[in-house]
Amino acid sequence: MEKEIRALKARKNAVIMAHNYQPLAIQALADVVGDSLELAVKAKETEADLIVICGVRFMAETAKILNPERKVIIPVEDAGCPLADFLTPDLIREARQRYPDAAVVVYVNSTAESKALADITCTSANAVRVVGSLSNTTILFGPDANLAAYVQRELPEKTIIPISPGGHCYVHTGFTLADVEAARKKGGMVVCHPECLPEVQEKADLIASTGGMVRGAADGDEPWSVFTEREMVSRLRVLYPGRVFYEKPEAVCADMKKISLADLQQALDREEHEIVLSPEVMDRARRAIERMIAVGA
Ligand code: 13P
Ligand code: SF4
Repeated sequence: MEKEIRALKARKNAVIMAHNYQPLAIQALADVVGDSLELAVKAKETEADLIVICGVRFMAETAKILNPERKVIIPVEDAGCPLADFLTPDLIREARQRYPDAAVVVYVNSTAESKALADITCTSANAVRVVGSLSNTTILFGPDANLAAYVQRELPEKTIIPISPGGHCYVHTGFTLADVEAARKKGGMVVCHPECLPEVQEKADLIASTGGMVRGAADGDEPWSVFTEREMVSRLRVLYPGRVFYEKPEAVCADMKKISLADLQQALDREEHEIVLSPEVMDRARRAIERMIAVGA
């Protein structure tokens, strides 16, 4: 099947982009593997006729918004991100009315409609830099309340107001202080994603996006307990075969695991499922995403 996928990819001048949480078999076939920011930046640069996003829907929508003229597909239509659904356009509009002087920063784990109402988007890799780049003191931030708390801690001079109460990722909030204690017994470093709970973040040795984990693991030789989706550890083990990484077996993002090799093959063959968004939404969302890309990582 791998051979057939490679042949289809070449025949269709397609590029396959996979998130760090995708099954290793999919990562192995991808031209690009990365975090949300890296996938967005590479999507903006591609010359391919067909862009296949192996990840969740908001990642495919971001690629489409940056490539309105190209065909962007996601192999499984209902691979979504439950965190994205916490933030509705109405919540953003209401918050803007209440805080007219505030800037609206929308995490990329969101719908295209929410991005279209943002002043700028951010990912977990650049949230602090993005918020720090704004002149506004008050920042309306959604949907992830834990990432908002992380940015607030890093930038005490700003007032970060979470606009989607309780917005969280069930995979990351599954990490507890008991997991920190267990990791301490194993030794080495506790490395967590900023979507983890604030009390867990406070006890961690390093807080990083998934791309930040890939880069950070290049230095040092201590064992790492990795507090994010467990596939991240599979990727780290491939990249750094001599290092010890511990995962939490229960930390699984069900949506990230929906795409199989058979789905990928069929998607390339039939060129489906195509991402279709309204041109107005794309135009407005593109401004917010491009502004973020200009700020950098
Ligand atoms: P990254 O941008 O760090 O890859 O995070 C995306 C995500 O969905 C985390 O759960
Ligand atoms: Fe969304 Fe959480 Fe899955 Fe990331 S791990 S895609 S934030 S549900």
